[in-house]
Amino acid sequence: MDIKIYDKLAKKYDFMVNLVSFGIEEIWRRIFVKELKKHIQNGVLVDVASATGKMAKSLDFDKMYLIEPSEEMVKVIIQNFKKLGYIQDGFRLKKNNKEIYIIKSTAEDFRIDEKADLIVSFMGIRNFDDIKKGIKNLDSYLKVGGYFGIVEMVRRDDFLGKLVLWYMNKVVPFIASFFGMKREYEKLGESVASFKEEDILKNFKEYDIIVNKSLFPMAKMFILKKEK
Ligand SMILES: C[S@@+](CC[C@H](N)C(=O)[O-])C[C@H]1O[C@@H](n2cnc3c(N)ncnc32)[C@H](O)[C@@H]1O
Repeated sequence: MDIKIYDKLAKKYDFMVNLVSFGIEEIWRRIFVKELKKHIQNGVLVDVASATGKMAKSLDFDKMYLIEPSEEMVKVIIQNFKKLGYIQDGFRLKKNNKEIYIIKSTAEDFRIDEKADLIVSFMGIRNFDDIKKGIKNLDSYLKVGGYFGIVEMVRRDDFLGKLVLWYMNKVVPFIASFFGMKREYEKLGESVASFKEEDILKNFKEYDIIVNKSLFPMAKMFILKKEK
């Protein structure tokens, strides 16, 4: 995905998401966090495609790596955590026993020095330029026995799916045009139109599927466990 889109969106991102999704994305996030916490409560977290850092804020693990390529999003992440009392030291943020490392890079290319207990991608995977390479790189940083949690919008071909696509391709860009972001939202709508559940799952053949749930109206939640 063109990072410039997200650079432009960064400051208004959370507001726009809430506006165009009628708050549904936040409900998905809450469902996802609740489900993840049933399996794992703390440890080392990698949150990929972090945007403004909301997943990390919600999961609140002791050590968190936020992988985000957009420079403007990175600035928003730093601001958001400073508001929560974190002290900044370059790309490291610290508060009491909690540490956050902000890695300005892509899923495909990032490098860190340790393995995670949990990797999460909330509406992230669809944005990777090379999904196979991104997931392979992420997998190399997950401990055996660790979890990979995913929420993503995926295409469905029934009436509801067509209605959501129409809304995303026509109505959302119209709403976004009032904020000078019509073309950006057209591109985001196009990326949903062709993305299928299989595009995710074919990269996790070695994992156990712990949770595979549809989220109304057009997303999937997966929690996968790395067995070897
Ligand atoms: C829809 S937002 C993710 C939302 C976020 N996870 C949340 O919890 O609200 C997509 C993010 O993916 C990032 N992105 C784009 N290409 C990427 C890549 N190749 N690897 C990782 N992140 C990428 C964008 O900069 C953007 O911030």
